[in-house]
Amino acid sequence: MSFPSTFRFLPLPTEIHFGPGVLSTLPERIRALGGGPSLLVTDAGMRAAGFVDRIESLLGEAGLACRVYDAVTPDSGTSLIAEATALAKQAGAAVIIGLGGGSSLDTAKAVAAMCTNPGNILDYAGIDKLKHKPLPVVAIPTAAGTGSEVTYWSVFLDDQTRVKAAVGGVLLFPAVALCDPELTLTLPPSLTAATGMDALGHAIECYVNDACQPISAALALEAIRLIGRHLRSAVLNGRRIESRSAMLLASTMAGIAMNSTRLGLAHAFAMPLGSFDLRMPHGLAIGITLPYVMRFNAPARPERYAEIAAAVGEPISGLPLREAAVRAAESVAALAQDIGIPARLSQAGMREEHIEPVAAEAIKSGNVAVNPRRATLEDLKAILKEAL
Ligand SMILES: [Fe+2]
Repeated sequence: MSFPSTFRFLPLPTEIHFGPGVLSTLPERIRALGGGPSLLVTDAGMRAAGFVDRIESLLGEAGLACRVYDAVTPDSGTSLIAEATALAKQAGAAVIIGLGGGSSLDTAKAVAAMCTNPGNILDYAGIDKLKHKPLPVVAIPTAAGTGSEVTYWSVFLDDQTRVKAAVGGVLLFPAVALCDPELTLTLPPSLTAATGMDALGHAIECYVNDACQPISAALALEAIRLIGRHLRSAVLNGRRIESRSAMLLASTMAGIAMNSTRLGLAHAFAMPLGSFDLRMPHGLAIGITLPYVMRFNAPARPERYAEIAAAVGEPISGLPLREAAVRAAESVAALAQDIGIPARLSQAGMREEHIEPVAAEAIKSGNVAVNPRRATLEDLKAILKEAL
């Protein structure tokens, strides 16, 4: 592990409650935030799974008013955020509850921000642009992936351009993260696989990048270990609470780690891959591109990649450093294959003509600047071509 002489680690203002059954403490959390009416931001799948009814009865029995917005779509959207914000204002919401995967949690954060800031969410694209403190958010993840419950980002689709945009900053941290692994037990294998690869992408890209410091590194490496040990069983036998708990813990730890570091090329690619007519799900984009990015990056930080290989359970003892580093990429590719992630972007809808626009958009990402190996536009195109 390297020890930079100076570094910055952001505070985490989010109170984390973790463990099977912590959802039942939601009324206490709302009261601790001052009570008042809340708006639950979620998607139709959560209602079908019975989670919305459960939360409505939990809050109803506690005498806490709650309205529901259950029309969040994958990657959300600017008009959807405006619609949910109007409902929050109409309901006089004092707390926003986000329930679901990254799209629902990110939408909840955006709605909380737009309840107290004028204009359109796009006015605040970038970092630290919000003028006023958002309403408090209680984030309840039902997938182990984005880490949105402890991050300061909200990612959504610009409905006009069909390109993904992000609003970030310390004001966007949820007030409370209720991490209840029981809520992830029924997540289907394909979504468990894609979201799990997203969490692994966060941990690996954080661990190797130029902005990583010892505190994020410790969190990220432990997240890699947990994912290496538990992602296969979480996908192949989703009812195993031990695997589900380990995955949720890992995604939350990786989320905390990456706030201070940003990520790398896989995440630079994932934004445009999720845009245009492609609309590739984020976790899938990460799962496919991560091994290719790791092969490109490994020579720049071989010690770190060798540590990753060991952390995911690859036997590397006695191997030359360079070979051990390459094993990290191969072991992640094998993990992705075992859990049903396609090996190529073309299997997820990408075509040759997408390479130019995806690379052109990816090179603008702040994640490129901290990637451990300097990458030009030509490098990005070459990686995409190889992954196609
Ligand atoms: Fe991600």
